[in-house]
Amino acid sequence: MAQINSHYLKLKSGYLFPEIGRRVSEFAQKNPAARLIRLGIGDVTRPLPDAVVKAGKAAFDELSRAETFRGYGPEKGYEFLRRAIAENDFKPRGVVVDPEEIFISDASKCDTANMQELFDQNCRVAIPDPVYPVYVDTNVMAGRTGSADGQGRYEGLHYLSSGPESGFLPQIPRERFDIVYLCFPNNPTGVVATKDELKRWVDYARANEAVIFFDAAYEAYITDEHIPHSIFEIEGASECAVEFRSFSKTAGFTGTRCAFTVVPRALMCRNSRGEKVALHALWHRRQSTKFNGVSYPVQRAAEACYSDEGKKEIRELIAYYMENAKFIHQTLSKMGFAVYGAINAPYIWLKTPHDTDSWGFFNELLHKAHVVGTPGAGFGACGEGYLRLSSFGSRADIAEAMERIRQIYDI
Ligand code: MLT
Repeated sequence: MAQINSHYLKLKSGYLFPEIGRRVSEFAQKNPAARLIRLGIGDVTRPLPDAVVKAGKAAFDELSRAETFRGYGPEKGYEFLRRAIAENDFKPRGVVVDPEEIFISDASKCDTANMQELFDQNCRVAIPDPVYPVYVDTNVMAGRTGSADGQGRYEGLHYLSSGPESGFLPQIPRERFDIVYLCFPNNPTGVVATKDELKRWVDYARANEAVIFFDAAYEAYITDEHIPHSIFEIEGASECAVEFRSFSKTAGFTGTRCAFTVVPRALMCRNSRGEKVALHALWHRRQSTKFNGVSYPVQRAAEACYSDEGKKEIRELIAYYMENAKFIHQTLSKMGFAVYGAINAPYIWLKTPHDTDSWGFFNELLHKAHVVGTPGAGFGACGEGYLRLSSFGSRADIAEAMERIRQIYDI
């Protein structure tokens, strides 16, 4: 019998969101009359912008005619989209990104998960806690860790613990690490890093020859004009960082699938002989071997996000969710909860009442209010005692969820 990759057996239970889904389905089966309000996984609910739909349909029409049919697309993605990204996402912020440094993909989740494959097994990895669980799990799968301890922390990974005392910002470690994951605006806490804070990370990475994996999937939700949207707004970052971006939360593409990763040509790592190797070439090699790209109609649909009509519709979408976030933040604060996030991110991070543990509070909300959140402990040991709510529901659902919570917890 074939022996499986034993590192997979080190993983704790299921991946967070399917695990929540399993518990919620079990509850729904036993309580068919309960109307659940789902503020758990950050899945958008508003329809795609018209500009996006029109462009996607037109592209399908092109594929239906022999003279405009296309088969496999270019490995990095179509130039029209990479150029639109460079011109609209980076240039207005004073960042020069060559379209050749942009790789179109189906998800930041996959790209953040796969990037570590390019690095040696013995690389020392630092990961914020709490944070998006994909970073930890994929390093476990890759065999870069030992087993998990009682808190669910894996031997061999370095956790950058953060809590309310540091404003949930991970602190720069004293030791040297080869790979550092950063996620701003942060999932799950919703906090952001200032230019000075990001500069300190870039300085650390350059001084230690480390690579920063910068996940900026929620940058479109930044409302404070002084907060950087890209790590490349910091001088020297193109020598030490890759950046992950997504159309999922920005333009409602969670079901449509399109994202991109910027791997600067200037970013050098070392081979086992200590010689410099460009990460850009290796990522290209990896993607062209293991990935077949995003479909042409979806790339045309993504390009339409940068048209005048698309930009306007996206601004409205984001404003809608951020209005929800503000309402949740205000309502829960008035009730006496300690609440974080929601200002530059679509997530609300709240302290559980009466020191209930995360899964306990998740269960209470599910059973008493029929509201689904995400237990903070699922994002790391430092998330214990917190719960994340997403603002991606409809206005009516959010209002009802807050009213149901108020009836139970006006603390
Ligand atoms: C989340 O809820 O954290 C995200 O939706 C998960 C994801 O984007 O994969």
